[in-house]
Amino acid sequence: QGIRAWGVAVLCLATLISTEAAARTKPFKMALGDGGGSPQQVMGQKFVELLEQKTDGRHGTLMFLNGQLGDEQSTINDASMGLLDFTLVAINNVTPFSPSVGVLTLPYMMQSLEDAIALTQGEVGQQLVANTVRDANIRIIGWTYTGFRALTNAKRPIHELSDLKGLKMRVPANDIMIDTYRAWGINPTPMAWSETFTGLQLGVVDGQDNPYMTIYAMKFSEVQDYITNIRYLFSIEPLIVSEEVFQAQSDEVQQAILAAGQEATEFSARYLVEQEDKIRAELVSQGMEIIEPANEREWMDRAISQVWPKYYDRLGGKEQLNRILKTLGRDEI
Ligand code: MLT
Repeated sequence: QGIRAWGVAVLCLATLISTEAAARTKPFKMALGDGGGSPQQVMGQKFVELLEQKTDGRHGTLMFLNGQLGDEQSTINDASMGLLDFTLVAINNVTPFSPSVGVLTLPYMMQSLEDAIALTQGEVGQQLVANTVRDANIRIIGWTYTGFRALTNAKRPIHELSDLKGLKMRVPANDIMIDTYRAWGINPTPMAWSETFTGLQLGVVDGQDNPYMTIYAMKFSEVQDYITNIRYLFSIEPLIVSEEVFQAQSDEVQQAILAAGQEATEFSARYLVEQEDKIRAELVSQGMEIIEPANEREWMDRAISQVWPKYYDRLGGKEQLNRILKTLGRDEI
């Protein structure tokens, strides 16, 4: 009798284990361009936890930081081909795959976190999501708010546009950003994000721009001395799922992915507000000097007058930009 009871118990346990194993699917993979402690990583981690909770532990996700799965633009390419499940990248690296997203990299378009939230979470954001699915077979399911990109360099304090002369500035391979530097009077060097730290360290480039939180997480104070607090681009980093992977999920898992993305987005906005000032102070304590530009109006006027008109067509026409400006409560162009 005892032996039979044991047998039944062992059988039940084995069934339980194999059901568990079947229920818990192979983990998703998520690529991130930035390292630990960056807003990308914090938002990605939140999403991973939420997705696991919402699927009762069935869907785990492995995160690969610091460009381990390739530079940001190649991970987007992999996701678009269904070779990678998720990638979390800066918006400027998405524009080459879906041009209308460029509206989020137009210099001085977003002037606050509120503007960034209004554009990403309202009608404009919904349209951009649909466009990226159409153009690149990728779906944006969440937004990381990383703050304004400030300009760093190793050579000298930059107060005015004329101080940029002679500096080798790294930019992402994003033509709106390249044209912005051209409007400011210099020819920047396009370079993948994964090569930027080494490029700065070896002096291939003298400077770059990125948000305070990214500058800190990527330890740029080791290779850069000066930060100029320009506010030309509010950095947004979308969390992307491969459309092929998304469509292969059940309705229930799709809903869990979308809900986790939305909650992680809201968390990211709170995290930025809580952390950004502390991070700026940390950078100063690491020896970086923060400079307020003498006349940012001039940087802004040049960028808007020389860059925007070149991209009207690609971004859906001047009327479309005026509609967007209206939603932000700003004057038409
Ligand atoms: C870039 O400059 O390419 C990006 O902002 C890097 C990032 O993802 O933080």
